[in-house]
Amino acid sequence: MIRTAFFDTKPYDVPSFERYGQFHDVEFKYLETKLTEDTAELARGYDAVCVFVNDNVNAAVIDKLYDCGVKLVALRCAGYNNVDVRHAYGKVHVVHVPSYSPYAVAEHAAALLLTSIRRIHKAYNRTREFNFSLNGLTGFDLHGKTAGIVGTGRIGRLFINICRGFGMNVIAYDRSPAPNGDIEFVGKDELFERSDVISLHCPLTDETRHMINADAIGKMKKGVVILNTSRGGLIDSEALLAGLRARKVGAACLDVYEEEADIFFEDRSGHILNDEVLSRLISLPNVIVTSHQAFLTEEALNNIAETTVQNIRSCFDRDGVCSNELCYHCGNVEACKKERKHRCF
Ligand code: NAI
Repeated sequence: MIRTAFFDTKPYDVPSFERYGQFHDVEFKYLETKLTEDTAELARGYDAVCVFVNDNVNAAVIDKLYDCGVKLVALRCAGYNNVDVRHAYGKVHVVHVPSYSPYAVAEHAAALLLTSIRRIHKAYNRTREFNFSLNGLTGFDLHGKTAGIVGTGRIGRLFINICRGFGMNVIAYDRSPAPNGDIEFVGKDELFERSDVISLHCPLTDETRHMINADAIGKMKKGVVILNTSRGGLIDSEALLAGLRARKVGAACLDVYEEEADIFFEDRSGHILNDEVLSRLISLPNVIVTSHQAFLTEEALNNIAETTVQNIRSCFDRDGVCSNELCYHCGNVEACKKERKHRCF
């Protein structure tokens, strides 16, 4: 049995992990707490830890896990900006789930977009109170508008297809644009200037942090709709709030928020929210916030559990290849992933 401490457990995690775990001799201990410097000690005696987007696997946590005898950090998500992968090299292996349902995220982005521009969230509340007025519900057609997609990987490409289905013109910006494709790639500034809808689908890195800031918003069309289903840190939230208040940004749909770690995924309805920026954003009629929900479909949960269990299993198999390992020994996680046929260390 491979003993794995499962941090930040939610009720919807357990059935799928139990189902796949028992077939692969991976035993989970479900802990509700997040992994932090203070809770890392709970992993003592376990072979692996399984963590999610808001567990903080910084250098100090990695040192504590190493000291506790933990050999593997298994992310049950795609993004790994919350793990100091460089520091982990040589101490604990790190694996992730590169893709579990890009459809779930792309479809959620589309749901947010349609809800926002056709005011469905407002209509829903009105008709529940038998208010059948249409005043203030005027939307706009997506057909013929320009969608600017930042990041054309798995999710970005699916969202491009959805936008094309609506008859939108699509332009895209990517650090590594695919050659000879059917996508019109433009520079970042041109994308900001030309797009009616901007949707973010690139990872959070030092390069992309606050990609949407006051300067970028200044270049955008008046009334632009900004969608973020990627990572909160891509947007400078205060600059977004200022852009909304200045009526420059027409609407924002946020599935992620840069300070979400201590807020999202929990019921805080009985509490006063101490985050002024988020409170203000939520109070605006043209902002829709979902709490990092884009991944949450049955299909995605099953795929996450299946791949995570396989990742854990393969890391503990003798001479096995550690599937989906992330490491920095060559200084480039993405290139490393493509070329490696053996364990990183
Ligand atoms: P992917 O790795 O398939 O694609 C990412 C794309 O971004 C690549 O084409 C890459 O070249 C591009 N990129 C990298 N750096 C860039 C930069 N500096 N500027 C412009 N483009 C850049 O990733 P995938 O699967 O499409 O996921 C995208 C993001 O979605 C993830 O990084 C993750 O943060 C987020 N995500 C959010 C979920 C949610 O529940 N809200 C669930 C799953 C992923």
